[in-house]
Amino acid sequence: MPRYLITSALPYANGPIHFGHVAGAYLPADVYVRYLKMAKGPENVLYVCGTDEHGVAITLKAEQAGVGYREYVDGWHKEIRGLFDQFGIEFDTFSGTSRCEYHAEASRKFFSVLLEREFVFEKTERQWFSEQSGRFLPDRYLQGGCPQCDFETARGDECPNCGSWIDARELKNPISLIDGSTPILKPTKHWYLDLPKLQEAGLDDWYRGNDPQNPVHAWKPNVDGHVQAMLRDLHERPITRDLPWGVDLPDGLEDSDGKVLYVWFDAPIGYISATMEWAAAKGEPEAWRDWWQNDDTHLVHFIGKDNIAFHVVVFPSMLLGQQEAWGGKPFVLPWAVPANEFYNLQGRKFNTSSGWYLDNASFFEQYNADAARFHVLMSAPETADSEFSWTEFQVTNNNLLADKVGNLASRSLKFLDKRFDGVVPELSAEALANEAVQAVLNHESLRETDRAFDAMAGFIENFEFRKAAQHFIAGCSSLNQFFDAMEPWKKIKGDEQDLACCAATLERCVAYLELLSRRIAPFCPTTAKKIRAMLGEAAAADAATAWGAEDANTPPLTAPAGAKIDAVEVLFSKVDDDQIAAEITKLEASAAVSD
Ligand code: MF3
Ligand code: ZN
Repeated sequence: MPRYLITSALPYANGPIHFGHVAGAYLPADVYVRYLKMAKGPENVLYVCGTDEHGVAITLKAEQAGVGYREYVDGWHKEIRGLFDQFGIEFDTFSGTSRCEYHAEASRKFFSVLLEREFVFEKTERQWFSEQSGRFLPDRYLQGGCPQCDFETARGDECPNCGSWIDARELKNPISLIDGSTPILKPTKHWYLDLPKLQEAGLDDWYRGNDPQNPVHAWKPNVDGHVQAMLRDLHERPITRDLPWGVDLPDGLEDSDGKVLYVWFDAPIGYISATMEWAAAKGEPEAWRDWWQNDDTHLVHFIGKDNIAFHVVVFPSMLLGQQEAWGGKPFVLPWAVPANEFYNLQGRKFNTSSGWYLDNASFFEQYNADAARFHVLMSAPETADSEFSWTEFQVTNNNLLADKVGNLASRSLKFLDKRFDGVVPELSAEALANEAVQAVLNHESLRETDRAFDAMAGFIENFEFRKAAQHFIAGCSSLNQFFDAMEPWKKIKGDEQDLACCAATLERCVAYLELLSRRIAPFCPTTAKKIRAMLGEAAAADAATAWGAEDANTPPLTAPAGAKIDAVEVLFSKVDDDQIAAEITKLEASAAVSD
């Protein structure tokens, strides 16, 4: 039985998490994890994340804010955890690269092993240095004339005018954006990851699915296109930086003073060090190996498209280059990297600083978090960029969740409450022998629901969450059609046979609501709990955690006769047109203010 090790990209500890991030790398992972725990057993699933706390951007932002690096990342670490809670995203462990006590050592060991095996080599090159600040300048903090088109304010990495990539050393009359001074070129030594060599040593074979130890799930087309192009022209990459904040290099390296590991080298090791921390915290310090060094592990990285190169080329190379250095066993390589494209907001990119974003606090005060989750998944950028639109959110909330899910639960359970004293009716042997009753139990709409609900697992396992959500809704639509077609409100007034059909209809409604509560659980966990609470005795607590498959091997779906249901609640309240119009006006106004 495979076990699943799931990661979501470690968010940088320098800003809030917004709907765009959530749609890309966190919500799909959370749904996948919740589904797996139900379908494969919670002991076979581990979901790891934490904050990415190093790098140039964080270093400079902390300096600009005038706070120490530690204080700066601590603040964001806490803030980000809170934001995930609002979205109902639950990790098994959430660490951070500067707070995990295993992280620096693990990162240095990765580096040392690669150096020893000659997958890392050193090289001295000239780089821009500010004498005023006494530090080397990262490419994007340099400005100067473009060597191609002479545009005067090009950055050290690319030219906004002609779009060409720039070798920062060729910038004309550069200035430092950090302190405004004129930098000088100064030689500095750095260590490089020899990606072409690692490509030969196993990366290519693994990627193409030729490594029996590390099978791969089919690559998504958006991932494959990107990676194929990279693999045709792979270069070495520097993995050290001159920076005051980060993971120090291992001891004993000449000229390593003032240098740290490149953030993209240490960050993915954060997945491993966080697992070490999780294992140690439960008193089994070696248990991390059961996940990272186990042929049965399916390692799945949920990321946004800007992280593809690092998760499909760089990190797997780092992992395979470790060979048997960690207790004699190799690391598993990724099994799937379901990268998403970008999620925008009403036609534009999310941008917190320009006011084009959804304020999480005000959103969750007014709207149902499960409706937000369901809508984001229904519109997630799985194959192409997509967007959050307020009017579409209203449709999801009102027409899908309130009308199809909430309404089904409320009208069938209220009917049961009123006409059957809230007790699941017993279908007598005599009733079951009746053809009309059999026609209710075998109604075609129920078979449609079966087919729609059965298809969900396959879609989720293939990372097609939109389709899974659509099939869920289709299954609910069929259940509503069933209720309409059976007309229990008429049958209750009829003869004995009609009464038996009415009872059978309600029995089916309860049985299918119980199944529905499990099918919706990965998407809308709070709603699932509410439905089960409403079902009262008709929903056994232990079944809540089981996905269950309605196939030949599982017993048929039945509602327990005699079980009493609980009070009926509203699952989704409607969002009206005025509210939506006000949201759009508010968004445009706040963006206009900061323009
Ligand atoms: N912090 C990066 C970003 O937000 C993602 C890091 S993923 C990791 O783009 F694998 F490096 F951890
Ligand atoms: Zn140019």
